[in-house]
Amino acid sequence: MSITPSASAPLAVVTGASGALGAAIRTRLVSKGWQVVATYRTRPPADDDCESGVSWVRFDAAEESATTALRTAVDACPGQLCAVFACVGAPSTKKAVADTDVSEFEAVHQANVVSFVRTWHAVAERARRDGASILAAGSDAGQAARPGNGPYTAAKAALASLVITLAKEELDNGVRVNLLAPSLIDSPLARHVMALKGVTDPDAYYTQLPWGRPLALHEVATTCIELATAAHWSYATGQIYPLGAAV
Ligand SMILES: NC(=O)c1ccc[n+]([C@@H]2O[C@H](COP(=O)([O-])OP(=O)(O)OC[C@H]3O[C@@H](n4cnc5c(N)ncnc54)[C@H](OP(=O)(O)O)[C@@H]3O)[C@@H](O)[C@H]2O)c1
Repeated sequence: MSITPSASAPLAVVTGASGALGAAIRTRLVSKGWQVVATYRTRPPADDDCESGVSWVRFDAAEESATTALRTAVDACPGQLCAVFACVGAPSTKKAVADTDVSEFEAVHQANVVSFVRTWHAVAERARRDGASILAAGSDAGQAARPGNGPYTAAKAALASLVITLAKEELDNGVRVNLLAPSLIDSPLARHVMALKGVTDPDAYYTQLPWGRPLALHEVATTCIELATAAHWSYATGQIYPLGAAV
C-alpha cells in the first residue's frame, strides 16, 4: 500500500522507472512516503504503476525535448530533491566488435551515457539548490570487458568516467555522484541478454554463478537507495561500487 506523500516529502527522480531496477527503486521509495518523478520511454505506466506520489514523464535519450520535459516535471514538484537514480540502460546484441554495426554503438551509448547527460542537464539547478545525491546504474561489464559485448562495455566504462568527472565538478556545489556496478541481476533484461548469448536454460546458467544465483532486484535496489540516501554514505562521491562476487 502506498502512502500519500505530503508536499514536504523528499523528492527523487528515477529515470528508467518502467524497467525492472527503476521500478524496484520507485516502489520502495513510494512505500517510504517519497515523491517520485519517474521516466519511461516505450512502456507507459500501467494502472498498477500509477501510485500516489509518482509523476510519470516520457523521456527518450534521443530527443532534445526529453531534457525540458524532465526539468518541467521536477520543477512542478515541491519538496527537497534528495536523490536521482539514473537507471536507463540498454544492452548490446552480443556480437563481436567486427560484426557490430556502428549504429548499435551509437544507440547503446545514447541509452547508457547520453541519457545520464540529459538527466543531469534537467536536474542540475535543482540538485545544486537542494544538495541532491546522484546514483547511476552501471554494470560490472564496464570493467570486465568480456568478448562479444563491445557497445555495452564501452558505454558503461564511459558512464563510470562521466560519473567521476561530474562528482569532481559538483563537489563544491554540495552534489554527490556515485555509480553502482552490479553483476547479473535476475530480471527480464538478463533473460533477454542470455537468450542473445544462446543460453536456453537460464536456471541452469544461474547455478554456475557465484553463490549459485544472480543478484536479486531487491538487493540491488536497496543498495542503490542506501548509497544515495543513508547518512553514513554522505562522505562518498565520485566512487564506483562493484556489487558482485570475485571468481
Ligand atoms: N538487468 C541486469 O542484469 C543488469 C545488470 C547490471 C547492470 N544493469 C543496468 O541497470 C540498469 C537497469 O537495468 P534493468 O534490468 O532495469 O533494465 P530494463 O528493465 O531493460 O529497463 C531499462 C529502462 O531504460 C529505459 N530506456 C532504454 N533505452 C532508453 C533510451 N534510449 N532513452 C530513455 N530511456 C531508455 C527503458 O524504458 P522503456 O522500457 O519504457 O522503453 C527502461 O525504463 C541499466 O542501466 C542496466 O544496464 C542491469
